[in-house]
Amino acid sequence: MKHYDKIIFELSRAGRKGYELPADKYGVDGMAEIPADLLRTQEAELPEVSELEVVRHYTNLSNKNFGVDTGFYPLGSCTMKYNPKINEELAALPAFMSLHPLQDEKAIQGALELYWNLQRMLSNIAGLAEFTLNPYAGAHGELTGLMVMRQYHRSRGDHKRTKVIVPNSAHGTNPASAMVAGLEVVEVKSKPNGSIDVEDLKPLLDDTIAGIMMTNPNTLGMFETEILEIADLVHKAGGLLYYDGANLNPLLGKVRPGDMGFDIMHINLHKTFSTPHGGGGPGSGPVGVAKHLVQFLPNPHVVKREDGTFTISEGEESLGNISTFLGNFGVMMKAYAYILSLGKENIKNVGPLATLNANYIKESLKDDYLLPIDGVCKHEFVFDGLKDKSTGVTTLNVAKRLLDYGFHAPTIYFPLLFHESMMIEPTETESKETLDDFIEVMHKVAKESRETPEVVKEAPLTTLVRKLDETTAAKNPILNYRTLKAAEA
Ligand SMILES: Cc1ncc(COP(=O)(O)O)c(C=O)c1O
Repeated sequence: MKHYDKIIFELSRAGRKGYELPADKYGVDGMAEIPADLLRTQEAELPEVSELEVVRHYTNLSNKNFGVDTGFYPLGSCTMKYNPKINEELAALPAFMSLHPLQDEKAIQGALELYWNLQRMLSNIAGLAEFTLNPYAGAHGELTGLMVMRQYHRSRGDHKRTKVIVPNSAHGTNPASAMVAGLEVVEVKSKPNGSIDVEDLKPLLDDTIAGIMMTNPNTLGMFETEILEIADLVHKAGGLLYYDGANLNPLLGKVRPGDMGFDIMHINLHKTFSTPHGGGGPGSGPVGVAKHLVQFLPNPHVVKREDGTFTISEGEESLGNISTFLGNFGVMMKAYAYILSLGKENIKNVGPLATLNANYIKESLKDDYLLPIDGVCKHEFVFDGLKDKSTGVTTLNVAKRLLDYGFHAPTIYFPLLFHESMMIEPTETESKETLDDFIEVMHKVAKESRETPEVVKEAPLTTLVRKLDETTAAKNPILNYRTLKAAEA
């Protein structure tokens, strides 16, 4: 291990220093406002390192990471498309970066206009009446949307409606969000092709049903062709339809959830709208609703006055606040930049290209990998592991071997409908050359699995860290240097 590859605390030598900004660089003395009783009384335990060591340490660390900027990342269900740099440049404009949420409305009209415009754009894309941009993530959007659903039934005095129907193929956050929203989850079966079994749905639709949560295309990447019938059945039973927008990418600009009959939806800006995926960082999960639900959206909300100016409003029937201020504004700016840079016409190419790329990979690999559901998929599809399982090579082994060849693994063991699920989503931002490279490597791994299975089972062989003990990592996480030293002692 190189010296600067060590943990940064191990690089520390007393007295070493890096570059220090002058205290008044931004014209403020950061310490001036801190009350004396809150000031630190002991020196912070920080590593003492030179600038060069810090630069090498973090540059090398970043090179050990894998991201969309490093290579192909076909993580199904996650839509790991490229995040264009122009999004970052615009979001970093000082005029926006240095805004404060408590500033007078008059001074932030431009930001409010951008916010309002994005509400409008998403409403048009979704075919819904209004959007809130306040939620912080997809799952937070789900919770917010379900709270709207609950609020709607309560406002009508319909207190019996406490159940939400969720397909057994759904993403785990769907039932989890329903539970957190205080609703009971009722499972509806999927047919072998992954779509909702309408005959199983019908008897569930009584006067205790608040609504149904669905995604379309479904978790297997297949379009729910019976969606209009499902919407009709649910509405006639007095329920609402919630659309999990995690799979919006293939429909972008082509088909609108509102037109399919959905009343509420969330959008993961970090998927369809090319903002970076979390990793604990800021995210955004805007929630859209049909006309009859607008008054229940969370506070605060940006509205346009008749004189063309913008204001932050609070609705009386609103479910209340679900975030601080208006959500993660910087993330919204990136999504806004993405939509504008594609424009009305180009945005319509996203879905077809994502669909073409997924089908190209699927058809190219189905000789070596087991395709449980044949036919045209949308933006993603699922293999049930290798076709030839005789040497005992599993989906996990294949996923780890891909790392040796410089590809991120697909989503594995999800959806739960198959034992060896491997969910592949290339997105529209990849070139044919990249797809061909991936296809070649997947064939190679299948060949290795037949001829030298032990190599695949041992993978990854070339990564800095080999196979991890994920259970111990989850149960006994070592999150700081002191815990590490204590564990080693
Ligand atoms: C189908 C589906 N629904 C919901 C979510 C949750 O979104 P988030 O990760 O933004 O909370 C995901 C995330 O991967 C998803 O794939």
